[in-house]
Amino acid sequence: MAVRFDKNTKTFTLHTKKSTYQMKTDDQGVLLHTYFGSPTDESDLSYLIVPEDHGFCAQPAGNGGNRTYSLDYYPQEYPVHGTGDFRVTALKAGIEGQVPALDLRYQSHQIREGKYTLAGLPAFFAREDDRAETLEIILKDVYQEIYVRLLYGVLEEKNIITRAAVIENREERPLEIKRVMSMALDFMGGQKDLISFGGKHAGERQFERRALGSGITEIASMRGTSSHQQNPFVILCDRDTTEEHGGCWGVSFLYSGSFRIQAEVDQFEDVRVVCGIHDEEFSWILPGGGEFVVPEVALSYTDDGFSDLTMGLQRAMHKNLIRSPWKDRERPVLVNNWEATYFDFSGSKLLEIAEKGAKIDLDMLVLDDGWFGKREDDNSGLGDWFVNEEKLGCTLKELVDQINELGLQFGIWIEPEMVSEDSELYRTHPDWALVIPGRDPVRGRNQLVLDLSRREVVEFMKRSIDRLLTSANIAYVKWDMNRSVDNVFSSANPQLSQGAVRHRYVLGLYEVMEHVVTTYPELLLEGCSGGGGRYDAGMLYYVPQIWCSDNTDAIERLRIHYGTSFGYPMSTVSAHVSVCPNHQNGRVTPFKTRGICAMQGAFGYELDLGKLTDQEMEEAREQTKLYHQHGQLFQQGDYYRLTSPMENREFTAWSYVMPDGSKASLSVVYTDVHANPRPLRVKWKGLQRDGIYELEGREYTGAALMQGGMVLPKPRCNYDSCMFVIEKKK
Ligand code: GLA
Repeated sequence: MAVRFDKNTKTFTLHTKKSTYQMKTDDQGVLLHTYFGSPTDESDLSYLIVPEDHGFCAQPAGNGGNRTYSLDYYPQEYPVHGTGDFRVTALKAGIEGQVPALDLRYQSHQIREGKYTLAGLPAFFAREDDRAETLEIILKDVYQEIYVRLLYGVLEEKNIITRAAVIENREERPLEIKRVMSMALDFMGGQKDLISFGGKHAGERQFERRALGSGITEIASMRGTSSHQQNPFVILCDRDTTEEHGGCWGVSFLYSGSFRIQAEVDQFEDVRVVCGIHDEEFSWILPGGGEFVVPEVALSYTDDGFSDLTMGLQRAMHKNLIRSPWKDRERPVLVNNWEATYFDFSGSKLLEIAEKGAKIDLDMLVLDDGWFGKREDDNSGLGDWFVNEEKLGCTLKELVDQINELGLQFGIWIEPEMVSEDSELYRTHPDWALVIPGRDPVRGRNQLVLDLSRREVVEFMKRSIDRLLTSANIAYVKWDMNRSVDNVFSSANPQLSQGAVRHRYVLGLYEVMEHVVTTYPELLLEGCSGGGGRYDAGMLYYVPQIWCSDNTDAIERLRIHYGTSFGYPMSTVSAHVSVCPNHQNGRVTPFKTRGICAMQGAFGYELDLGKLTDQEMEEAREQTKLYHQHGQLFQQGDYYRLTSPMENREFTAWSYVMPDGSKASLSVVYTDVHANPRPLRVKWKGLQRDGIYELEGREYTGAALMQGGMVLPKPRCNYDSCMFVIEKKK
């Protein structure tokens, strides 16, 4: 049993393979949080809470006489606004027009087999071979018929505990929810570091570690997407935790809109972390009898450092979150025409690229932006999802058939959430755009955002995508989203707050994506938001891969891939070889290095194959062969970060290892060169200790390669690279 309830102590203890999580209903009925960390037994750990009469710490209702009890410092499971707790809380709500105050007390609970699901929202799921349990705890406000159902999903072997909640208003009057977080996590005793993954467009998910000091540290997005600038995944860890050792907690929010993660170190140096929908512009009117489903957050803890934590998360996401059958299939090696042609292409140009692709055994051609409506640049056409036959010189079906005849599959780019003012769609339905009446709209990439809180817009999107996908043999779709969302106003629902429209937008998006993945289960769907602007666990419920960054420079990608690997499986990273000088930063790197770097993910090319030299074409053919040869290893293997590009100036190394240690690869990109260099060494990981592996014609034991390591070849130039693949011989 992963979930145990002790009726004497009133404790709920949740066990996973590597962690224990505990809550307790105290004699006031308040649900306290007593523990989350290394596996322990079911002892009631509430003795760690020290009752004290601390100045300026108020008492909650019904407890006036006992000045040593205050929710201002007691660790709680779902702290709410209005109980004298002045730290960041999980819920701020009240009957519309009244002071928002709640006081939640335990009412009942239920333990069930299997993992709960959430209607209309992404969630981890249990597979048949998983031991999974759900704990539901119902809390009720002391004064009103307001209920909170806390949901816990325990995937014991996967070392995952998920949390979600449902807010229920059984009053007649509407409840105004001003803030609703998916979780609060209280740690008794502070001294924690926070690792987050901030960045920018073309520079996403840069690893950053900081010591938490007193006050609130915040990682958030208000952009309507999870964003390039911050990511809804963080790690909390002890001060001395490393890749191999130490306690660390992963928090991954399954939501693709605005989010807020706050870590507060309070007056007694305890730490509280909350994570949920960003509340700054959020407000939700919950009518009498209504329910609000709070998105899921996934938690994981290990004693064994970041490598163990993130590998566990990656495996769990692969098995229990990503649904696409493509997660277990070798991905097609593709050529995408974006950096090859941008908007300047014709059907014959695409066929020319496809012919070249066929010569080097590529699997697919992807037609990027510019094939529809009137779209010669990025100022017009979005919303008009009709093929520009004049530009292609034929119908889409004719083009796709010709590409298929060359032996290549066909993929296509769409950006269905957007509308250009210069488009038929906007001229017909100007009110479908999210703009504030009477004000010049805030534009991003000169485009507006469609109002996905409206039913007719959601249906229009489904129809447009259906029409496209049934018009030709389309095997892959790259789903883009190219601006942040601001000044949100829905002309169909003028009474709705910005925040309500923003959340309904995300629900509408998920509804359309659900339609696409269920109607076209074989379709390979790639997520994208100007690269990795919406790289979150929520998206991975719908797509098995995401265009990781618009930055295709192999060297900058080292840091982007490094950061991404902490929160997400590397099989979800889409990465392509592009030309040099690189279009984003002008850097020149060897063709080989661009290939090795892009093989960290779903691999392909983003260049005009017609402009490659014969030697480059030959190298591309070899890379494609290599990727196919080891595709299973790159997609199913465990990913090890061997060095950090944030710390090691000279080289970055990573490796993939089959979970049974039977086969492994190790890749190195040199990022600095020296005259008279010192020897560079690196240690393999994840091999079988007494396995015998052949490396460069010599035999080594796994133990030697892991403990002693290997000597790297000397780089011949800056940004040189190398890659080794070894198999266990005995
Ligand atoms: C975004 C994507 C690019 C490309 C362009 C097309 O920036 O990230 O890969 O598809 O849009 O406009």
